[in-house]
Amino acid sequence: MNLSKFGEKFTRKAGITELMDDLGAAMAKGDMLMLGGGNPAHIPEVQKVFRRRMEAILAEPRGFETMIGNYDASRGNAAFIEALAGLLRDTFGWEVGPENIALTNGSQNAFFCLFNLFAGEMPDGSRKKILFPLTPEYIGYADAGLVDGLFTAKRPAIGMIDDHLFKYHVDFNTLEVGDDIGALCVSRPTNPTGNVLTDEEILHLDLMAQDKGIPLIIDNAYGTPFPDIIYTEAKPRWNPNTVVCMSLSKFGLPNLRTGIVVAHQEIASAIADINGVMHLAPGGIGARLAIDLVRSGEIMALSRDVVRPFYERKARRALDVFQGELDGLPFRIHKPEGAIFLWLWFPELPCTSAHLYERLKARRTLVIPGHHFFPGLESEYWQHKFECIRVTYAQDDTIVREGAKVIADEVRRAYG
Ligand SMILES: Cc1ncc(COP(=O)(O)O)c(C=O)c1O
Repeated sequence: MNLSKFGEKFTRKAGITELMDDLGAAMAKGDMLMLGGGNPAHIPEVQKVFRRRMEAILAEPRGFETMIGNYDASRGNAAFIEALAGLLRDTFGWEVGPENIALTNGSQNAFFCLFNLFAGEMPDGSRKKILFPLTPEYIGYADAGLVDGLFTAKRPAIGMIDDHLFKYHVDFNTLEVGDDIGALCVSRPTNPTGNVLTDEEILHLDLMAQDKGIPLIIDNAYGTPFPDIIYTEAKPRWNPNTVVCMSLSKFGLPNLRTGIVVAHQEIASAIADINGVMHLAPGGIGARLAIDLVRSGEIMALSRDVVRPFYERKARRALDVFQGELDGLPFRIHKPEGAIFLWLWFPELPCTSAHLYERLKARRTLVIPGHHFFPGLESEYWQHKFECIRVTYAQDDTIVREGAKVIADEVRRAYG
């Protein structure tokens, strides 16, 4: 097969693709403790709401037929966009209208579009990159460039906290935004660490971006107003220089692939244009199922009263379990401030996190080794990258408990 550069790049087995295949193969054997995946939980109260919504649509005259039988516009379901603009205006006072919003096939797709809109080869022949001001960062960004070398990143400052906890901060002492940067991007809350950048950090980044005349992209897949998986105070921020990306996935609809971009109207239009070329239109079933919840604001109430407490309880239990099991070891856990993961750090671990992953897999326990979560920092040697693992607490608590025992046992052996 003679492939173009595009073809070669996107069919090349990225580290994470191999890892996902490996996880899939291990899972197919069954009997694995799955602490590796990123799937959100099936929360019964939320699923019941969507079941009722679906039943109501099916009962409407021609409800089913229009839901499956019509394309939306390339910007996405217009009524949903209108309702969402209203919710964001009323709740946060953001000055946004439908012209500021475009839907995508999952927010993953939005990042692909945004990164390649703002970085790569520019019309004047210069090259720009996307800067992640703080890594560890979301693994899904790593291969989203149409060309290699699209990303650059910074190490964080690390603040130690009691009870074996720690927290990453943006290291503004070393952060510089050069003329070769096309946009900044942060996830808030962060996958894999559960970090929530402070309001001051976001403000500072926004000012740096404005100063350079480039956008600040905020990945709000776990953030407010939905699914609101944030356990600390964090003010959402939007202005025409920020691009806030949201998603219905972590609220409970990952398979309906509904991403949302809230941005300056030129950026929202650009996303709609790319949608037209790549997909004609984004899929509309997620928007159709969620529109009444957005219109009524129920999506926020459910997020605040059901989704957030559900994950917060699980986070607390998982933290207790790991702190208990790892007792006596020199471990650290990133303060869980949001999202659905614990990030475990084993300072000066005598083996790499990849080796630890293999050893755990041999004992039927699947995690994600930490070194995959440093997009833009691939070529930089930093021991910390090989000392961390990500575990999810979204699934059953018994799996977390059993997995924690195996992890503690293997880590104890490794240090031993
Ligand atoms: C931080 C973050 N951003 C974006 C995504 C993409 O989610 P989706 O494409 O389902 O909206 C994920 C998925 O796990 C994520 O963790």
